[in-house]
Amino acid sequence: MKKVIIITGVSSGFGRHTAAMLAAEGHTVYGTVRRDVDLRNGVHILRMDLTDADSVRDAVATVCSREKRIDVLINNAGMHTGGPAETLPEDYLRLQMETNFLGTVRITREVLPVMRNQGGGTIINFSSIGGLMGLPFQSYYSAAKFALEGFSEALRLEVRQFNIRIVLINPGDFHTNNTLNRRNFLAPTDSTDPYHEQYTKTHGIIERDETGGMDPEKLAVKIVRIVRSRRPRLRYVIASPDQRLSVLLKRILPERWFMKIIGSYYRIR
Ligand SMILES: NC(=O)c1ccc[n+]([C@@H]2O[C@H](COP(=O)([O-])OP(=O)(O)OC[C@H]3O[C@@H](n4cnc5c(N)ncnc54)[C@H](OP(=O)(O)O)[C@@H]3O)[C@@H](O)[C@H]2O)c1
Repeated sequence: MKKVIIITGVSSGFGRHTAAMLAAEGHTVYGTVRRDVDLRNGVHILRMDLTDADSVRDAVATVCSREKRIDVLINNAGMHTGGPAETLPEDYLRLQMETNFLGTVRITREVLPVMRNQGGGTIINFSSIGGLMGLPFQSYYSAAKFALEGFSEALRLEVRQFNIRIVLINPGDFHTNNTLNRRNFLAPTDSTDPYHEQYTKTHGIIERDETGGMDPEKLAVKIVRIVRSRRPRLRYVIASPDQRLSVLLKRILPERWFMKIIGSYYRIR
């Protein structure tokens, strides 16, 4: 069945690939952007910034007035801060929560009544492996994704009665614009900062993993399958074998052992 789909953040990365693939499948796809982008892939473009409640309301209203329904909402848009929890500037911390958590909640609350009134729908929320375990020097990113996890699990139970399915995606490292974008939101540390040495070491590992990450098209293929599915699961961990193993180990190992493994991976002193 062809569906009406909204996907946030289609200017790059997962959003761009997924929107193009869904449009190629014949779905009616609305993709949101904050700036002019030349997509030419059959995706209808909407202007929307998750931190601006009016723009979120307007984007959803536009799709409703044109299509009279919204079958799938894909909450992909997000940003990524990095730095010591103690010294990351507070405005970055606010933007992190405002975008990845509150912004996602904001558009979800606009779309829910539409789905309820039409008798169902699917909402796919992009979490992360960092939403399942706290990652060093990505504390506020992890915090925002953990918040999204709790919200999505609770919401899945609340809206089941309306035939609305809530899905969480936990990607591992993929090679997207995420790394470049995060460079705008890194805590400035100089060599006198008490975290400087550790932060520099760990941040190097984070960037190495991301730049050597998987191709985002692989993830887009999985999202297309989830959109097709009549009964999607709550969670899909889409990651390298090592990262999938880390998710399993977090579940089964005593916490102290797991923290040792993560600490040694990120070369924490
Ligand atoms: N790449 C990875 O390895 C990875 C791993 C785990 C989870 N994720 C998650 O996957 C999602 C997509 O990330 P990506 O890797 O594809 O990164 P990306 O290439 O940086 O794409 C992020 C998208 O979000 C948009 N966006 C950022 N802030 C926004 C706001 N306030 N309002 C509306 N749109 C906004 C960006 O638009 P602009 O172009 O205007 O900035 C861009 O289109 C994110 O939720 C991210 O946390 C990524």
